[in-house]
Amino acid sequence: MALRVGARLGPYDIISVLGAGGFGEVYKARDTRLDRTVAIKILSSADTDLKARFTREAKAIAALTHPHICTLYDVGHDAGTDYLVMEYLEGETLAARLSRGPLTLNDALTVGIQIAEALGNAHRAGIVHRDLKPGNVIVHRDGTAKVLDFGLARLTGPPAESSVEATTRQTQTVPGTIMGTPNYMSPEQVRGEIADARSDLSRHRSLRKRCRSTTVRWEQRGRHGVEYHRA
Ligand SMILES: Nc1ncnc2c1ncn2[C@@H]1O[C@H](COP(=O)(O)OP(=O)(O)OP(=O)(O)O)[C@@H](O)[C@H]1O
Ligand SMILES: [Mg+2]
Repeated sequence: MALRVGARLGPYDIISVLGAGGFGEVYKARDTRLDRTVAIKILSSADTDLKARFTREAKAIAALTHPHICTLYDVGHDAGTDYLVMEYLEGETLAARLSRGPLTLNDALTVGIQIAEALGNAHRAGIVHRDLKPGNVIVHRDGTAKVLDFGLARLTGPPAESSVEATTRQTQTVPGTIMGTPNYMSPEQVRGEIADARSDLSRHRSLRKRCRSTTVRWEQRGRHGVEYHRA
């Protein structure tokens, strides 16, 4: 469902469209009660089990407070639309930044360490990201990085379907070879197994490599029984 600028969702006034991803659109909005700017993500899934799971697990995600994790403020339902409300982040996604070229070694280390700290904090709270990628990191002008969408890959779809099978279906061209669409899947995600905290570490390694790579494509083969291409 696409919302018009000026529309009202619960106590939130829609200001503009920020983007769209796998789960639905993201809007910049105004919290009319607290008078602050927020980002609202619409959940497009109609599955009631998933919604119940989301409401349950949102509590754990909302408890994550860390300087490098985008805070979840609220979840809501209005006029048949489920949505979540998060901290509005100024800046650009790391994906947008990397489209102009690699980071300096210093910037790559800074961003890499900040994201590692965010992952460590979430893992200690029992929450795995499962979908770490440059599009889920926003970098502020001052160099501060914040990780978006913590735990959402699991909350908005069955574990295997959301992060593994859907991506595999989009990208698989030859049996056993996954290529094309940018992806940061860990070996166990490629194999369709359940991803745990180690998966985030594998994706963090891919992200670090991407931050410094001048070519947008590289290849990894063999050790885990799969061959896949990353862009
Ligand atoms: N909290 C936020 N503050 C500011 N902008 C945001 C925020 N969350 C998302 N955005 C913007 O909205 C865009 C779409 O986000 P979304 O998470 O839906 O897409 P995605 O990361 O490309 O895909 P997905 O997470 O579904 O795999 C992002 O690229 C970003 O520009
Ligand atoms: Mg995202």
